[in-house]
Amino acid sequence: MNRRVLSYAPLLAVLGRAIAEPVLAIDADFPDPSIIQTESGYWAFATEGNGVNAQVATSPDFSTWTRLSGVDALPGPFPSWVDSSSPAIWAPDVLVMPDGSFVMYFSAITSNNTNLHCVGAATSWIPEGPYTPVDNYLACPLEQGGAIDPDGFIDSDGTIYVVYKVDGDTLDNDGTTHSTPIMLQKMESDGVTPTGDPIELIDRSSIDGPLVEAPSLLLSNGIYYLSFSSNYYWTQSYDTSYAYATTITGPWTKQSSPYAPLLDTGVETRSSGPLSAPGGTDFLVDGTKIVFHADRNGQNASDGRAMFVSEIREANDVITLD
Ligand SMILES: *[C@@H]1O[C@H](CO)[C@@H](O)[C@H](O)[C@H]1NC(C)=O
Ligand SMILES: *[C@@H]1O[C@H](CO)[C@@H](O)[C@H](O)[C@H]1NC(C)=O
Repeated sequence: MNRRVLSYAPLLAVLGRAIAEPVLAIDADFPDPSIIQTESGYWAFATEGNGVNAQVATSPDFSTWTRLSGVDALPGPFPSWVDSSSPAIWAPDVLVMPDGSFVMYFSAITSNNTNLHCVGAATSWIPEGPYTPVDNYLACPLEQGGAIDPDGFIDSDGTIYVVYKVDGDTLDNDGTTHSTPIMLQKMESDGVTPTGDPIELIDRSSIDGPLVEAPSLLLSNGIYYLSFSSNYYWTQSYDTSYAYATTITGPWTKQSSPYAPLLDTGVETRSSGPLSAPGGTDFLVDGTKIVFHADRNGQNASDGRAMFVSEIREANDVITLD
């Protein structure tokens, strides 16, 4: 069931508008997508797959998408902290810089511990790359399980931040549940050099199951929103929720029912039946759109995770699918 359709359908019928639900955008394995808009259209980036480290897709209108088969936005060579033999690039996220260049934040397997990922940055003057990695990692807390899922953000005063997940659940095989805090790292104006220590924005609690991950930051009408995924992505409990704050350092409040989760298994799409395990959400910087992934076959991740898109709006700490 989808309460959003039930509650909005009569109003939309009166207005004569199409019911704008999430739409399948890329019917291929394209997980953990991120989104930017440039003069040349919309660009989306995704986790390794289809033979490349960092997948790329583009759209002139946000509605018709083309995955650029064979184009690798992050082909390497990689700096020494990355295990170049098997970098396993996850969740690349691109930030449009004030000078018109692009910074890609990515997670890669580390040379020191090939079970764990850490977070790095790479630069390009062309949205689809190839991006050139900088030498130093951005965050690499190996004792806490490593770091994944970076997301770049430019604040209203021009300060650049990166949020990421401390990948604590990689240590859960010791029989305990580790914390998976979402950290905020301030950056130099180059977008690739961290400055100062990261601070924690939110962490998992019992309602999130074993983890929170896949953060994305948005500033809309003076309110900060932080979307995140909860639970394991290979289960249908995987979903997208969000927190809100009036200052970027917090305190952050996790939104609660009935406004959260924003996306969970069962939410109807306009294109392809109900969503299964929607997560990995990324905001477009203007707050009007999101991209996310959900199970391609509508049941589990065995056929990959496809990219879906939706219009959204924000008001009074609440995000709704538009
Ligand atoms: C990897 O190990 C080397 C040698 O112990 C150390 O200098 C370096 O900081 C480590 N790198 C990371 C990312 O932890
Ligand atoms: C995943 O879903 C497919 C149907 O799309 C099904 O055939 C398969 O058995 C499922 N796998 C698991 C592990 O549930």
